[in-house]
Amino acid sequence: MAKYLVTGVAGFIGRSIAAALAARGESVRGIDSLITGKRSNLVGLEAMDFIEGDLADVDACAQACAGVEVVFHEAALASVPRSVADPVSTNRNCVDATLNLLVAARAAGVRRVVYAGSSSAYGDTPTLPKHEGMLPKPISPYAVAKLAGEQYMCAFARVYGLETVTLRYFNVFGPFQDPSSHYSGVLAIFCRKMLAGEQPTIYGDGKQSRDFTYIDNVVEANLLAAAAPAEKVSGQVMNAATGSRIPLNEVFVQLCELTGYRGKPAYAEPRAGDIRDSLADIQLAQRLIGYQPAIDFREGLRRTVEWYRTGAGD
Ligand code: UD1
Repeated sequence: MAKYLVTGVAGFIGRSIAAALAARGESVRGIDSLITGKRSNLVGLEAMDFIEGDLADVDACAQACAGVEVVFHEAALASVPRSVADPVSTNRNCVDATLNLLVAARAAGVRRVVYAGSSSAYGDTPTLPKHEGMLPKPISPYAVAKLAGEQYMCAFARVYGLETVTLRYFNVFGPFQDPSSHYSGVLAIFCRKMLAGEQPTIYGDGKQSRDFTYIDNVVEANLLAAAAPAEKVSGQVMNAATGSRIPLNEVFVQLCELTGYRGKPAYAEPRAGDIRDSLADIQLAQRLIGYQPAIDFREGLRRTVEWYRTGAGD
């Protein structure tokens, strides 16, 4: 029987958490609908109990949660522009899925759910850094959906005593992130294009900035959130990021150095639902779970470029 369940296990964050658990010798079950997750991301996880299933299906949720102690809920349709194009699918795969999972987790006697929240909850407020005491101001359907899931987490902690912890991720990147869709994260797209000698497109003037967070930091935050004492963390929401930000134009320059790309970027209209700047205050996670980002942006970018260079992302 698996002690841990990872939802969205064929996505890049889910598979990275599952791999870290497996490396510790833990028993892991994973579920993924394979809507955006890729079977190829399950390489190295052959010992895991894998369920191909959709969290919008209550029976799949029950099957996934049976006998589990801790859930890492990473499954989502992760993309702001995708949610602008199709808000109903985003709601189904983020909100309905999260509620179904919580109901099933409670029924199965799961002790704790650690949830992949999103920095998009803060919206386009000018205040930087973003701290958890700020009023959420979601500006895209995706942000609304991730925030709704977060609030369900808090409500389930409050009214049912299910231990829940929300980590608000800030632009996570690293190996296994899918570069193939125009809904993909910008670093995955840029790494693949620039290594292939193709021109990347920057939406807007490139002065928008993000607190890009290397995957290993996010995996560590999850492991800490799962292990922290309930009285400290249950029902809490905290940022998981690096606490520094970098403009997209500067990211492009660093990627030129790392990939050898010699051209210039193309510039296009800013994207609907885009925010200008994003930077996390990470003091709460430091205080509550002892989180400290170990890998900085530059080192994370170097490792990421090396991974795409092997062609593993194709
Ligand atoms: C948003 C959320 C983040 C979420 C992610 C999921 C915010 C602050 N963050 O990130 O929490 O996990 O969606 O997808 O809302 N860009 C280009 N060229 C490209 C692709 C993107 O210039 O080819 C630009 C975008 O317009 C944006 C920036 O790069 O300004 C980052 O885009 P992306 O990687 O999609 O993430 P966010 O939308 O910031």
